[in-house]
Amino acid sequence: MDRNSMATLLFTPIELRGVTASNRVVISPMCQYSAVDGLPNQWHYQHISALAAGGAGIVIMEASAVQQQGRITYGDLGIWSDAHGDALVPYVELMRSNGVVPAIQIGHAGRKASMQRPWHGNGPLDGSDAARNELPWDIVAPSALPTGDEFLVPQALTVEQIKQLVVDFGAAAARCDRVGFDLIEIHGAHGYLLHTFLSPLSNQREDRYGGSLENRMRFVLEVVEAVRHNWPEHKPLFFRVSGVDGAENGWDLDDSVVLAGELKSRGVDVIDCSSGGIAAASSPVAKGLPRGPGFQVPIASKIRRETGVMTQAVGMITDAAQAEEILQAGDADLISIAREALHNPFWPRHAAQQLGVDKDFEQWPEQAGWWLQRRAMAMAKIS
Ligand SMILES: Cc1cc2nc3c(=O)[nH]c(=O)nc-3n(C[C@H](O)[C@H](O)[C@H](O)COP(=O)(O)O)c2cc1C
Repeated sequence: MDRNSMATLLFTPIELRGVTASNRVVISPMCQYSAVDGLPNQWHYQHISALAAGGAGIVIMEASAVQQQGRITYGDLGIWSDAHGDALVPYVELMRSNGVVPAIQIGHAGRKASMQRPWHGNGPLDGSDAARNELPWDIVAPSALPTGDEFLVPQALTVEQIKQLVVDFGAAAARCDRVGFDLIEIHGAHGYLLHTFLSPLSNQREDRYGGSLENRMRFVLEVVEAVRHNWPEHKPLFFRVSGVDGAENGWDLDDSVVLAGELKSRGVDVIDCSSGGIAAASSPVAKGLPRGPGFQVPIASKIRRETGVMTQAVGMITDAAQAEEILQAGDADLISIAREALHNPFWPRHAAQQLGVDKDFEQWPEQAGWWLQRRAMAMAKIS
């Protein structure tokens, strides 16, 4: 196929309510585990600068906790106070000045809170972390069931606490709007709080928040309603789901289709289709899906086809042609990359070249593009 003569979908702008992304590459949220007291610092500025300059249409800032105790680690970003919101203003400006839709993921870690940073062990905080003054804190979940044998046992949330969480998600959304974000993604995946309400493996409540699928979805839908209520009509709302637990008697793809329909009717615009995370990686309970290129695309495809909601594909998408094919096949509306963007923050710009959309570096910032164009001409003469 002659890519040079073809209009691509990957680099066709997409309208999401009143917001237009210049292309369909989304940088997936990536916790940096480097915040102090939930606040960003120079590392975050460096990280987001690189991603914002990389050419994606949308960059989603890392999972930011709506409550202090909802952080995965001591290094997570927070959005639980106005001061935390204010600290993100420079990031919004950075993204916007690069032509990127400024986006943020909001969430609560639930029973996967009070963890070590990945490079400190990636397990629950224990005595070995005391030297860094990082003591474990009390964690919460729908039921008093730990993520795995070696994990902290969470306290089952009271209905009053559930109502407070709903309020706090809504307050976080209002803050994100006030500081200028144009897109929110709610983190409903990877074994964190919202996901644990959905999955029958982690939710064994006997009240109206547990039991039937309808009851297990209730908290998530209340959160979505609270967020949508405080989030302007013209701004898009994404929801990241673990499409399957990948475990016997767990949350499955048919459940996700039902949930997606409910989310759509409550004003969610895009379902970001991830998977897994309900149990510890070492646990035999939930192995998750076998990994391979685009291994979660079938989730995005089924949800999109069966509900008509827009979907975002994520997971082991590393090549421009692969990304374009996913869109052309009608499996997803947006392509999200994470680790590939750490490996090469300019991935979207290289993808545009690979697909023949940007032949002469004309879409690069002129400070780089001017030089790269001339270098390419010089190299062509040599070869
Ligand atoms: C460093 C790092 C941090 C991550 N943090 C988050 C996060 O904050 N929220 C989230 O939903 N997923 C998070 N993820 C998962 C990614 O967003 C993405 O779904 C996953 O890495 C698969 O995509 P990939 O194969 O392109 O890396 C993180 C992944 C990495 C590598």
